[in-house]
Amino acid sequence: MASDARGATNPMPRFPDGFLWGVSTSAHQIEGAADQRDPSVWDAFTAEPGRVKDNTTAAVACDHYHRYPEDVALLRDLGVGAYRFSISWPRVQSPGGLDFYDRLVDELTAAGVQPVPTLFHWDLPLSVETEGGWLRRETAERFAEYAALVAERLGDRISKWITLNEPAEHTLLGHALGTHAPGKQLMFDALPAAHHQLLAHGLAVRALRAAGVTDIGIANSHGPTWPASDEAADVEAAGFYDVLLNQLFADPLLLGQYPEGLGELMPGDVAADLKVIAEPLDWYGINYYAPTSVGAPQGADIEFGGYTFPAELPFSVREIEGGHPVTDFGWPVIPEALTELLTSFRDRYGDRLPPIVITENGCSYEGIDDQERIAFLDGHLRALHRALEAGVDVRGYFVWSLLDNFEWAEGYARRFGLVHVDYETLKRTPKASYGWLRDVLRAQP
Ligand code: FCB
Repeated sequence: MASDARGATNPMPRFPDGFLWGVSTSAHQIEGAADQRDPSVWDAFTAEPGRVKDNTTAAVACDHYHRYPEDVALLRDLGVGAYRFSISWPRVQSPGGLDFYDRLVDELTAAGVQPVPTLFHWDLPLSVETEGGWLRRETAERFAEYAALVAERLGDRISKWITLNEPAEHTLLGHALGTHAPGKQLMFDALPAAHHQLLAHGLAVRALRAAGVTDIGIANSHGPTWPASDEAADVEAAGFYDVLLNQLFADPLLLGQYPEGLGELMPGDVAADLKVIAEPLDWYGINYYAPTSVGAPQGADIEFGGYTFPAELPFSVREIEGGHPVTDFGWPVIPEALTELLTSFRDRYGDRLPPIVITENGCSYEGIDDQERIAFLDGHLRALHRALEAGVDVRGYFVWSLLDNFEWAEGYARRFGLVHVDYETLKRTPKASYGWLRDVLRAQP
């Protein structure tokens, strides 16, 4: 349960010296100022009625583009060492677009908060999508050119970089199921989008290193997959889901190979591409939210956790039994699954695994007195600490998110922020969890 950060009864354990504490956001979800950048796939997607549940768009979002000094002050007062944000490729493409990030990075540096940019958090320029997007190999090359351009401009003030956010979700939701932009429903024909994102990552790592960058990671989504029962069909289906979520991206990155049977489905000279994809990483970012229970297909579409999983998939996502609390999104709150995830990564990848950073962890709840969020974060930090005690090398933890924001196909209905945003007035109000985290950080070395 949540405790007072300084409380004598149940104090938060001490994390190692130099442990990096941060919060995360992404450009499309908070910036707004859509009239001052090129359009992205998300602008086109949200313009189609029914794609976003409340039919909202991110044209204004939190108006962070204009209010960034206030948001940086919130970061400074929270006491985090780092801020993970994303750079909008469509903004960089438009005249003067990089100037915004120049100002933001200066503001962060002056506030003593380390900037940690992600180069791609799902907002592909529409012009790149029109030419084929992630289904086309050239997009990977263009991404590396864009990465080099950004590093040239900001590299003097930024040491830590992230190439891509969650290529697994972007492939599954954006290209296989179509519930996210660009809205493609290709099912397993979406696999080339996975390969080209991985190739884009590897080429960008090379481009960033050529520009003098020495501290590079990627942020991937992972979570334990639990078979719905001991029955062979459920175990097999869960194993398949586990490959898609936990191995399809991590194996090429960390081992230089695809899980068995998947390399053959990828386009191009896969063996040569894998050498690029497996460029050694300085650290590996994990976005963790919840474990997934998976069983054999049930012959019908399944609505789960805000997503529709079509009947023809070779698995079905199930409720996790056991009376766990759930967030407003319906995601189960099971902190010990984070310990399990981290130790399973160490066991699977051994000395091929670089240090881990938790690049996202958080929950959606209504309300400013958000005691559930405090309990969630408290539980997950303790679970992370248990993984440290078990010998897993974790170097940092970033909460998703600083602000309530545009939660993709859910619109503004899901509130993940430590800071409440009133979307009428754009007023920011720190929630109880913001004060709790500030106290936890003050009590750390
Ligand atoms: C992750 C995304 C992030 C946010 C959280 C809730 O999958 O990376 O942008 O939407 O989920």
